[in-house]
Amino acid sequence: MSEPEGATAHRSEVAGVKGRTFLVTGANTGIGRATAAGLARQGGRVYVASRSRAKGEEAVTAIKASTGNDAVFYLPLDLADLDSVRACAAGFLATGEPLHVLVNNAGVVRARGLTKQGFELMFGVNHLGHFVLTNALLGCLTASGPARVVTVSSDSHYSARGIDFEALRRPERGVTGMHGYGVSKLCNVLFTQELARRTAGSGVTTYALHPGVVASDIWRRVPWPVRPLMMRRMLTVDEGAATSLYCATSPDVAQDSGKFYEKCAERTPSRVATPELAAELWKRSEEWTALP
Ligand SMILES: NC(=O)c1ccc[n+]([C@@H]2O[C@H](COP(=O)([O-])OP(=O)(O)OC[C@H]3O[C@@H](n4cnc5c(N)ncnc54)[C@H](OP(=O)(O)O)[C@@H]3O)[C@@H](O)[C@H]2O)c1
Repeated sequence: MSEPEGATAHRSEVAGVKGRTFLVTGANTGIGRATAAGLARQGGRVYVASRSRAKGEEAVTAIKASTGNDAVFYLPLDLADLDSVRACAAGFLATGEPLHVLVNNAGVVRARGLTKQGFELMFGVNHLGHFVLTNALLGCLTASGPARVVTVSSDSHYSARGIDFEALRRPERGVTGMHGYGVSKLCNVLFTQELARRTAGSGVTTYALHPGVVASDIWRRVPWPVRPLMMRRMLTVDEGAATSLYCATSPDVAQDSGKFYEKCAERTPSRVATPELAAELWKRSEEWTALP
């Protein structure tokens, strides 16, 4: 018999969930859905943010049914359109609820093209959309403290040698599409480091992580028959959600901020992830998104 959604992830964590409010991006499928289900199973109030209403509402219904928790809600969010990102934040703020944990999980790989506002698609979705979402919700997170911002990065961030800021204004040109992905995941690590510096002492702590190599929809562009063969050796989505749940809820990391995790343990991030580059990325991101 198959286990209910979030069951494996549930066993990995027990603290700091009941009655608290969580918003998980890209929670209609994959690691995000397993994370949302794990939180709902432990009694959290969970917002499933997703670009497709149909997929998001299907996930809400399934998570409610499999966890027995009715406090699961859908929020529309297209991270490739900053107007949609701002509307998502406004929609959440209009509920008047506190926000205890934001999980920046959604991501794209091997994607080509530009976001609505003209940024390289993987940078735009994986970093810039989450940058705007987090900043729009930061006042609420601070007021709800202790609160956390968890950003799902990748060990692909080790492959990035730095950030060519000019390249972020045009579509990915690499053959595999992995170069831009590595840069976007380095941005997740840098964002977490700079956010930690800016929120120090505010009651908000922040974490970046590698979930492991996980059998999710992210491999949808890998052709058959390679894909099913590859996926047989990967972690399940529940196993892949374990480090997200750890960073979102564990008392073990309550005093930490700005660090990178894998397998529910701290790991040294790329040496390219310096405070100087983190500050520059933040400044550029602010200018590009016209944050005050
Ligand atoms: N799977 C792995 O092995 C692995 C390894 C390292 C890191 N990660 C990271 O883990 C995170 C979750 O990935 P996953 O493996 O669970 O992949 P997935 O199954 O493909 O899920 C990705 C999620 O992001 C959503 N998304 C994509 N573009 C979006 C947009 N413009 N606006 C809003 N949502 C958007 C997707 O929505 P749709 O369903 O509508 O496309 C989906 O809900 C990603 O950040 C990924 O980089 C995964």
